[in-house]
Amino acid sequence: MSDKKQVSRRQFLNYTLTGVGGFMAAGMLAPMVRFAIDPVLKPSQEGELAPVTEMDKLSNEPQRFDWKIEQVDGWYESQVQKSAWVYLDENDEVVALSPICTHLGCTVNWASNEEYPNEFYCPCHGGRYEKSGNNVPNTPPTAPLPLYVHEVKDGMLYLGDAKSREKV
Ligand code: FES
Repeated sequence: MSDKKQVSRRQFLNYTLTGVGGFMAAGMLAPMVRFAIDPVLKPSQEGELAPVTEMDKLSNEPQRFDWKIEQVDGWYESQVQKSAWVYLDENDEVVALSPICTHLGCTVNWASNEEYPNEFYCPCHGGRYEKSGNNVPNTPPTAPLPLYVHEVKDGMLYLGDAKSREKV
């Protein structure tokens, strides 16, 4: 008779069921663990104010500024490009507009169409916005350009998230 240990049918079934059961339990627990530690997995800098430009570079004419923010999604880290059209209004208050057209998401430019020199113009479908970012009625966009949350600190302009505004 050999010394080899034989696995009985009962033991084999026990091992198999334990393995499959453990695998299924891990599958059910993983989303719960992820939910519990979710704050750790959220983007690290999204929504935080980022330094964009020195205040003395601003004028009454809209200028485009680009910057990058760090985004952490789980274990994946990436840099996201952000842009804004920024100017000082008649009261020297900062106006920082998102360049994303509220029609279908193309990028709008300031005074880029000779026919509308004092407006933001979207080349995709002829969308137009006043300097304030309000959409011109009877053009494709149905809402104003979103406005960035901003803060001025030590002569520096910081921008946060762009917030949608009421339809005109
Ligand atoms: S995407 Fe700007 S007008 Fe259509």
